[in-house]
Amino acid sequence: MPTTLEAPLVRAASVGDVPDGGSRVVQLDGHTIVIFRHQGAFYAVDNRCPHMGFPLDRGSVKDCILTCHWHHARFDLASGGTFDPWADDVRVFPVTLRGDEVWVDVARPDDLVAHQRMRAREGMEQNLPLVLAKAVIHLLDRRENPAGPFRAGLEFGARNRREGWGRGLTTLTCMANLLPRLDPEERPRALYHGLGAVASDCEGEPPRFGLRALPESATDLVRIKRWLRQFVEVRDAEGAERCIVSAVRAGASSRQLADMLFAAATDHRYLSSGHLLDFTNKAFEALDVGGWDLAESVLASMAQGFASAERMEESNAWRNPVDLVPILGRAFEGIPAALEIGQGRRGSWSAGPALVDELLADDPQSMAEALLGALRQGATEVELAGTVVQAAARRIAHFHTSNEFSDWDTALHTFTFANAVHQGLRRTPSPELVRGVFDAAASVYLDRFLNVPSIPIPERSGTIKDPEERVRELDELLDRQQRVNEAGALVVNSLHEGIEPGQLMAALGRALLREDRNFHTIQIVEAAFQHYQFAAGTPAATVALVAAARYLAAHAPTARAQGQTYEIARRLHRGERLHEEAEAATTLATRAVSK
Ligand code: FES
Repeated sequence: MPTTLEAPLVRAASVGDVPDGGSRVVQLDGHTIVIFRHQGAFYAVDNRCPHMGFPLDRGSVKDCILTCHWHHARFDLASGGTFDPWADDVRVFPVTLRGDEVWVDVARPDDLVAHQRMRAREGMEQNLPLVLAKAVIHLLDRRENPAGPFRAGLEFGARNRREGWGRGLTTLTCMANLLPRLDPEERPRALYHGLGAVASDCEGEPPRFGLRALPESATDLVRIKRWLRQFVEVRDAEGAERCIVSAVRAGASSRQLADMLFAAATDHRYLSSGHLLDFTNKAFEALDVGGWDLAESVLASMAQGFASAERMEESNAWRNPVDLVPILGRAFEGIPAALEIGQGRRGSWSAGPALVDELLADDPQSMAEALLGALRQGATEVELAGTVVQAAARRIAHFHTSNEFSDWDTALHTFTFANAVHQGLRRTPSPELVRGVFDAAASVYLDRFLNVPSIPIPERSGTIKDPEERVRELDELLDRQQRVNEAGALVVNSLHEGIEPGQLMAALGRALLREDRNFHTIQIVEAAFQHYQFAAGTPAATVALVAAARYLAAHAPTARAQGQTYEIARRLHRGERLHEEAEAATTLATRAVSK
């Protein structure tokens, strides 16, 4: 039993208990500490290797460097600092000699939260998934608001990738949006996936150095918006960035900034298969979570994407055999008048289901006229956009698995683009962004081949099961390949049986996080949840979840390697002894081989 000399010093051993070149493990005040005696000096170190918990008394010391004997992480014996960033520094305790007794200060205060914030940053810098997982689990366990790690990831991603905003930051934002839908124990896992995606996206990339705003007199936002669109038109990323930064510095509101960027994002058709507008919308959503004080660096990171985006009017599919561009161009000219006519009729438009059927037909001219007609009848911009999202979800719900596997993404791109337009219009009723509704509808039209033949929306069937059973069934389905139609049917049956939609979405979210990070699967699940919220109580809400479940089932199971890393971190956080399990497994394997 250790005795206390004066708080916080605790007697650990007699000098004679620890031979030179040797060590002794002691329990002090709830800590398992190893006392090393090396070259005549005493050192006290937490006996749990910070990497994966291996006992450090089983390591070796040479030239004051302690090496762990599991994965060979190395530590300065005196400071605990590691030479292997994937392992983390080990905690050391100050030692005092009093006569022939070794006393240890066990109460050195550690700011563990600050340390784990730093480790989260290092995890992103070095792209170390286990470090990220450990940091996020620790921080959220200490009741850190998830917005904190999210903001750190947002700042990091916006500055450390010269190409700017990409899939990593989009994934991180999707994960942030999913958090409220997930069970609390799944939330750190979602953040870990998001931050890991940012780290992967930035790994090996040169950093981004932002441009300055124009001098103070440049405050005319109408002119800056016009300049931005001109510069994007000629693919001038630097000119575009300076406009964005200047607009932020000139005090543009979040709505004005959204209006400006959404206009530039819809001056050409379906840019980069819809990714550009989706990324733009996600950047605004990211600022809602991370803080609009980051607007300058985050929105400036979009400029390169605007300038380099692929314009679909330059693609064959949009020009032949039907040239969609003039059809859309004429429709765009009609939007202001249609909006004006419909203005007095708003509030009673209910022709959404019929419009969805028209959008799924195969006449693009009729499609464009139907959209204009809906605006004249009083459909709001948001209602119109929501209806196109429903049509896009139907394409996925009806998707036949006889299509090429990569065609899932064709339907996915339309759905996520349509959803981004919808969310964008909810943010700001930008007249230019209404063109995105027509672009999304054109893409729905182009995707019609994916529904030949068409899989019907599942009907309620089979025996009634309780929600828990349905959730287990979902997990089992996704353990097997290509259970696409069964997954869609499970959604319909579960909702029919009265499962709480929140429980079903939490189950889908957990199933998503079990898999290795797949950008498109994350996108569709997040977009489907967003649309469910908008369409709750209507058949369209069910279709959105059917679409998400079918896409998820088509892309599961994966190797689940990221889940394994996360599980290791979670078990370490709980104090489990993973090395004992590994040693037992090794013993069993050795016995089996020697038989
Ligand atoms: S290096 Fe120590 S547990 Fe891995």
